[in-house]
Amino acid sequence: SADSQPYRSAYHFQPPNNWMNDPNGPMIYKGIYHLFYQYNPRSAVWGYIVWGHATSTDLVNWTIHPPALLPSEPYDINGCWSGSATILQDGTPAILYTGIDSKNNQVQNLAMPKNPLDPYLVEWVKSPHNPIMEPNSMNKINSTLFRDPTTAWLGNDERWRVIVGNKREHHIGTALLYTSTDFVCWTEAERPLHSSNETGMWECPDFFPVSNAKHVLKASVFRSLVEYYTVGTYDGETDIFIPDEGSVDNESGLRLDYGKYYASKSFFDSEKKRRILLAWVNESTSTNIDIMKGWSGLQAFPRKIWLDKSEKQLVQWPAEEIEKLRTNQVKLPITTLKAGSLLEVSGVTGAQADVEISFSIPMLERAAEVFESSWRNPQEICSQRGSSANGDLGPFGLLVLASSDIQEFTAVFFIIFKKNSKFVVLMCSDQKRSSLGLDYDKTTYGAFLDVDPVKQNLSLRTLIDHSIVESFGGEGKTCITARVYPTLAINDKAHIFVFNNGSQHIEISNLSAWSLKQAKISSTEEHDKSL
Ligand code: FRU
Repeated sequence: SADSQPYRSAYHFQPPNNWMNDPNGPMIYKGIYHLFYQYNPRSAVWGYIVWGHATSTDLVNWTIHPPALLPSEPYDINGCWSGSATILQDGTPAILYTGIDSKNNQVQNLAMPKNPLDPYLVEWVKSPHNPIMEPNSMNKINSTLFRDPTTAWLGNDERWRVIVGNKREHHIGTALLYTSTDFVCWTEAERPLHSSNETGMWECPDFFPVSNAKHVLKASVFRSLVEYYTVGTYDGETDIFIPDEGSVDNESGLRLDYGKYYASKSFFDSEKKRRILLAWVNESTSTNIDIMKGWSGLQAFPRKIWLDKSEKQLVQWPAEEIEKLRTNQVKLPITTLKAGSLLEVSGVTGAQADVEISFSIPMLERAAEVFESSWRNPQEICSQRGSSANGDLGPFGLLVLASSDIQEFTAVFFIIFKKNSKFVVLMCSDQKRSSLGLDYDKTTYGAFLDVDPVKQNLSLRTLIDHSIVESFGGEGKTCITARVYPTLAINDKAHIFVFNNGSQHIEISNLSAWSLKQAKISSTEEHDKSL
């Protein structure tokens, strides 16, 4: 029940119990969305990994099916690890995944649907040709650093291409490229698609077009559990990807999310002509607590993702289907938020809400504090300042999952600085005060937001769901996800406030908040028992 399990999510996908990590093989097939995921049916801790499987018609409500892939053969007997789905030319989906073989080597395997006429694709057949890619003495691939095949793409030469995450000597994070004409027999290309000598092992790479001219390459960097991406150009003839100038090719580059967000994977939704992004959001608590509550891991809410008009970065926004869950809208008229003020957003369920707010700043030119040129790390600035410090323009923003007496809260806010004749906007998510009781990772997150507050209102959208707070600044230009475990601000005791701890007043130009209903997550049968 909600009382004994106050941290379970209402509309972020999670299985009824046990461990979940990466999203795998997302796709739409015959009008049905498929989400597979790294799942341990035996415990709330990572270990015996199978492919959990759920389907949906709206990315909101899910039906859980029996696991699609279980360890069963010498080439995957120690685990069915991450991978992707590709829709082949004849419309049939194929799964490529990493198997951990009987010698604990990582190999890549192929699986096909048993019955492609079944839109739910509940049964998968592993290829008799498996493994279809393996490390050997010829290719010098380290057999413990070779995993997570992407969705494949077809070149003009009718050859399929796929990349696989790898690390080469001297910490070179690498996207190995393989090609095939029949999807069964794969050969390693002469050169990887791309690599960077500043990162270490690349897990769960993702590679996709975002416009006619640009591609995005995303890597999940194992050593820091940070994901970064570069925008660049891909030459389909030479199979070379070149990041654009200024697009940083290591963990200090652009991130899909500056909080807790890992092993993301996108797919093209051919029905709604959009790209959807999914990701694993880990717990911030200890393994003991995970075992006690019997589960671990959430999926971020699916996001639509596209290239910003600057062509320098991506923009993300919760899939529009979330609006189905909205109820009891609360709207605020234009309101001045005086220095030091706190305003409750009442009338919505604070533990399950969608809040959109935008600010305009009347005294911008005169007021902003000067940005020191030595400040490099936005996360550090957020962490040092926190939400209670008094600045000039900010901190201002939202306190969510807050107790009525403000003893507990998670603060999502902005601070505006002046730099020469321009402005620098910092977006922060501060978890320091998120719980009185539990001891867990309360790291503060922060990033710059590429919005000019002279030309635009500063907007923030935050999705609140019991123990997860997903925030979208500047209409999705900077995203930060956090996990928090309040002890007072749970269920109907969770409140939402707007605050301004700066010395200047600002204006709320728009505020809409909604309660969000519970998504329906059901299972087709009780299949965990047999595992
Ligand atoms: C990323 C990852 C992948 C691997 C999977 C195993 O979180 O480590 O590299 O395939 O999880 O569960």
